[in-house]
Amino acid sequence: MLIAGNWKMFHGPDATREFLSAFEPPDGVDVVLCPPYVSLAAALEGPIPVYAQNVHWAHEGAYTGEISAEMLLELGVTGSLVGHSERRHYFGETDESAARRARAACDAGLRVIACVGETEEQREAGHTEMVLRLQVEAIRDALGGAHEHLTLAYEPVWAIGTGRTATPDLAREAHAFVKSILDVPVLYGGSVKPDNAAELLSQPDVDGALVGGASLDADSFTEICRAAVAVRS
Ligand code: PGA
Repeated sequence: MLIAGNWKMFHGPDATREFLSAFEPPDGVDVVLCPPYVSLAAALEGPIPVYAQNVHWAHEGAYTGEISAEMLLELGVTGSLVGHSERRHYFGETDESAARRARAACDAGLRVIACVGETEEQREAGHTEMVLRLQVEAIRDALGGAHEHLTLAYEPVWAIGTGRTATPDLAREAHAFVKSILDVPVLYGGSVKPDNAAELLSQPDVDGALVGGASLDADSFTEICRAAVAVRS
């Protein structure tokens, strides 16, 4: 069971150190933090494995504003998110570019959490499975199958930061569908909170959570990690 905290564009180095001094995850669950780039070094001062929020596909080059897998590994970073819906929505990330990033990162030795998920319009139009299929197949084809460093995160876009969570049934169905295309661990993401974590995490095929807003506070993130331990034991 993996619980990943995606801090998005929150928590600079000072706030990162403050968080780490208050955060005591329980034993029995794998926890990772995904802080902004400028807070990676501060996060690495603590005991929790650190992931970036994005990674470029080239080793180096004229790509202003981007960071390579090799640079992250040199710093001591363990993995990276790839293809988060906010990257897709605001920064033009496509299924193909997300897949290229995932491939380069896995090849370089980083772990990857690749994010997939449908928008509200796509779900209402009955296109959820088609969208998920295209997203997951792009990653699968770029990696040549189920890479040992790859985890997927199913994050319905309509549930991210909205307080609306997928029902456990809906999450279970989507996870099973994703795994039928690419059999790797699948995290659930989208308004995971201390009070809904146990129910979501106890669904079959839900192998952990990608937590945004509720990972910013050490107490609420600790509670979610505890829920994961309770579900497993
Ligand atoms: P949220 O974000 O938990 O704030 O909905 C999840 C994510 O975007 O990874």
